[in-house]
Amino acid sequence: MPSFTFPPGFRWGASTSSYQIEGALDVDGRGSCVWDRFTAQGRIQDGTSAATACDHYHRFPEDIALLKAAGFDSYRFSIAWPRVQPTGTGAVEPRGLDFYDRLVDGLLEAGITPMACLYHWDLPQPLEDAAGPQGGGWQGRDIIGPFADYARIVAARLADRVKEWMMLNEPNVVAIFGYGVGEHAPGHTLGEQGILRALHHQNLAQGAALRAIAAEHSGLTLGTVLNLQPSVPDSDKPEDVAAAARWDAVWNRVSLDGVLRGEIPALLAEKMDSFVLPGDREAIRYPIDLLGINYYSRMTMKHEEGHPFDVWWGEAQCRRWTGMAWPVQPEGLYDLLSELRTGYGNPAVFIAENGCAYDDVVAEDGQIHDAERVLYFREHLESVAQALAEGCNVTGYLCWSLLDNFEWAYGLAKRFGVVRVDYDTQKRTPKDSYHFLSAVAKSGRL
Ligand code: BGC
Repeated sequence: MPSFTFPPGFRWGASTSSYQIEGALDVDGRGSCVWDRFTAQGRIQDGTSAATACDHYHRFPEDIALLKAAGFDSYRFSIAWPRVQPTGTGAVEPRGLDFYDRLVDGLLEAGITPMACLYHWDLPQPLEDAAGPQGGGWQGRDIIGPFADYARIVAARLADRVKEWMMLNEPNVVAIFGYGVGEHAPGHTLGEQGILRALHHQNLAQGAALRAIAAEHSGLTLGTVLNLQPSVPDSDKPEDVAAAARWDAVWNRVSLDGVLRGEIPALLAEKMDSFVLPGDREAIRYPIDLLGINYYSRMTMKHEEGHPFDVWWGEAQCRRWTGMAWPVQPEGLYDLLSELRTGYGNPAVFIAENGCAYDDVVAEDGQIHDAERVLYFREHLESVAQALAEGCNVTGYLCWSLLDNFEWAYGLAKRFGVVRVDYDTQKRTPKDSYHFLSAVAKSGRL
């Protein structure tokens, strides 16, 4: 692709999440969350934990300096609900809010626009344990009110300085891996119904939180972050085509059509009938100002019984594979952005996450020459550039992630950062990919 100049005002930055980087899990009155429990149950593959992670809770000034030196103007971080309300409801822990105060002030001083995400998976454990009639956590409607209250509390403290608010991060991943197949906290294997309930209740909680914040503040940019990955069939066989369509409905459309259109995908309506109540469609719809998209790859799906929705992963056609064994398919990002333009009225979107893990090596010169990650970013930015050239309303690109961090069920072994973290010394070393993104951000050119 010939050199491309991004439009003026196009935003550059990085994303992180509280649980993956903060560490300091037992300081300043923080309550426990479902990932603490999941870890204690021995469910993390490499046996590590997020107890220290990047120690960002104490080292955030250094991390802000890394963002600034890169020339990034935007940073998405998440707020840990159990720091703000240790039991998920009621009493507020001021020391938890103080931490985010310090972080936000530091970002603003560095000239970086803070974007706060309210929920990146650290659900207070008591909310999971308080099983209402339909089950705990995101299984029931009991969580809607507490989430809206939490949103109100955080916004009351920070909205004078934080103008951009994302409600959720990847409700589909929470629902499928946390409640459906048990690979993420809280580790339930509730199958289809568990997945759909968790999706619907996150939609409802999100709608309530958006309204709660909007009722008390004006001039904010309100949105949410979805993991959207085009679902393509493994073959032309009708059963695979149908399976990919079902997976598309589950993975992408419950969340996307929920918030943007107030719709439940027709393919799933019957399965969701028992818990979608009158008024819910109106409650989940909200005219968000900005949609965050996390894109990693397409999903190649086939019909296979014995899994939720009788769908399973097929064989992807791709350029290469990442260290997660995820296919590298930058075309999927272009397809996705194009579809949002043509099928959803071209809403304002930004890339809230895009990145890859590789088994990085520290070279003799002490640097990390992560050429594969650089190529990954380049190719995905080319897709963004192509989409922009065709009129897609993409406002910015935030890589995943600033730092190597706690990669959920994989533990610390998988490194997604553009900055290496040595977990023994906490030394940060910017990788070649950091310098690459920095050069693009500073020049506005690819
Ligand atoms: C999540 C991140 C995660 C990344 C890589 C996204 O699904 O939002 O928390 O680390 O992908 O797996």
